[in-house]
Amino acid sequence: MSYNTMYFMLMWVRTALPLPLVFLLMIHGVSSAYMSVSYSPSHICALKDSTVIMRCSYTYPTGHQIKKVYWTKTKDKEDTEEFPNLSNDTEYSQRLQYLGDKQQNCTVRLSHVTLKDSHKYYFRFFTDKDKWVGVPGVTLTVTDEFDLQVESPERVTEGDSVRLTCKSSCTLTDRATFIWSRNSQPLTERRDRNNELLLQSVRREDAGRYSCAVHGHHHISPDVHLNVMYPPKSVSVSISPSGVIVEGDSVTLNCSSDSNPPALNFSWFKGGTFVGSGRIYSISKISSDDSGEYKCRSINEHGEKYSDAVTLNIMFHRGLGWHVWLGITVACVGLFIIIIIIITLYTIQKKRINCRSAAHDYENDDPRAGTYTALELKSRSPDLYDTLTTVHPRPAVLQSGSSEYENLHSKTPR
Ligand SMILES: *[C@@H]1O[C@H](CO)[C@@H](O)[C@H](O)[C@H]1NC(C)=O
Ligand SMILES: *[C@@H]1O[C@H](CO)[C@@H](O)[C@H](O)[C@H]1NC(C)=O
Ligand SMILES: *[C@@H]1O[C@H](CO)[C@@H](O)[C@H](O)[C@H]1NC(C)=O
Ligand SMILES: *[C@@H]1O[C@H](CO)[C@@H](O)[C@H](O)[C@H]1NC(C)=O
Ligand SMILES: *[C@@H]1O[C@H](CO)[C@@H](O)[C@H](O)[C@H]1NC(C)=O
Repeated sequence: MSYNTMYFMLMWVRTALPLPLVFLLMIHGVSSAYMSVSYSPSHICALKDSTVIMRCSYTYPTGHQIKKVYWTKTKDKEDTEEFPNLSNDTEYSQRLQYLGDKQQNCTVRLSHVTLKDSHKYYFRFFTDKDKWVGVPGVTLTVTDEFDLQVESPERVTEGDSVRLTCKSSCTLTDRATFIWSRNSQPLTERRDRNNELLLQSVRREDAGRYSCAVHGHHHISPDVHLNVMYPPKSVSVSISPSGVIVEGDSVTLNCSSDSNPPALNFSWFKGGTFVGSGRIYSISKISSDDSGEYKCRSINEHGEKYSDAVTLNIMFHRGLGWHVWLGITVACVGLFIIIIIIITLYTIQKKRINCRSAAHDYENDDPRAGTYTALELKSRSPDLYDTLTTVHPRPAVLQSGSSEYENLHSKTPR
């Protein structure tokens, strides 16, 4: 058994052996220019059903003559041979084609790879004097789909230069074209080299969910959220209640700002003087002292910003206090009482006059006087006039007797 074969055997029990011994053997294998096999690349990642070419070359001392060459793989349980000839294996025989020669080229092609083909493969050769197995071999990984992952810094600040990388479980060839998406919308405008997306000076609008894909393949990486931090912007103050503020009102000033992370530190200034902190500034009973220009300042860890000044215009009704209203009420009540007294006196006076006049009517025997009283009503009420004319079409009737007078008198309401 040669050193090379021994080394190969040791690879399987490496964990069980003292590490220095393994290294000693490895150094021996590498440093001796005796025989060697090299693979390029030494790791291959392939999609299921694709064709893989394992590039390989080998050297041996001059004077040796190549007798046998074949490719082998890590030993399976069912393999009887220590280094089975892959071309003998029914699993591979139809798909494996040796492209090399018997001098130095040991390239092989494996087509229609399956997930089960994920193994380490070795080139083995025999000279007339010795035999060799090309460790550490070439590693083939076959996947259903490229397992893509976006690598991105979790938090960035506006203005930063940000690099997003599309990572794959396999090392993809340089020819692969990457497609980037933000919030499921393909990013067409930015084309960056290879598998990187470079955001030169990141803006707020660049925040979102990023994913990547490889052109020609269906698989899309899971979304990765890019959080862009920025100092407060568009700081504004709203006044509640809106509209006219009257002295004595409760007034609330509300400071709102757009920032990431949200600002938690708010300060209020009245004409440049600090008056309070917190998002809301309340004045419970506004007075003339509170009128003026107010500003709010919003701070987060990335910066600060002041709002525009808002002016509190307060309407005053000075002198119209409770005592004034009491005075007005007293005056009104007094006036009312005076009016009542006047009406009462007037009514009493009128009643007295009426009584006196009625007594005078009955005392007077001349019917003409009664007629005068009755006719005088005509000018006051047209209805009454009609009644009078219907009942007494001729004024001469008045002279015919006192009974007629009685009749007329009864039609006249008192
Ligand atoms: C290949 O197969 C043949 C017959 O099927 C057998 O004789 C030979 O030993 C095998 N060689 C290897 C290296 O497995
Ligand atoms: C490996 O197997 C193939 C197919 O059976 C055969 O043609 C070839 O000669 C074998 N090589 C060696 C070294 O056994
Ligand atoms: C080995 O052979 C393959 C296939 O014929 C070829 O593509 C490759 O260039 C060769 N390598 C060297 C080093 O000659
Ligand atoms: C302050 O303004 C913000 C944004 O307009 C609003 O969401 C919030 O409810 C307001 N707070 C109060 C106490 O009015
Ligand atoms: C708010 O910011 C001011 C100015 O930087 C600082 O003095 C104050 O301590 C901060 N307040 C809070 C509650 O963080």
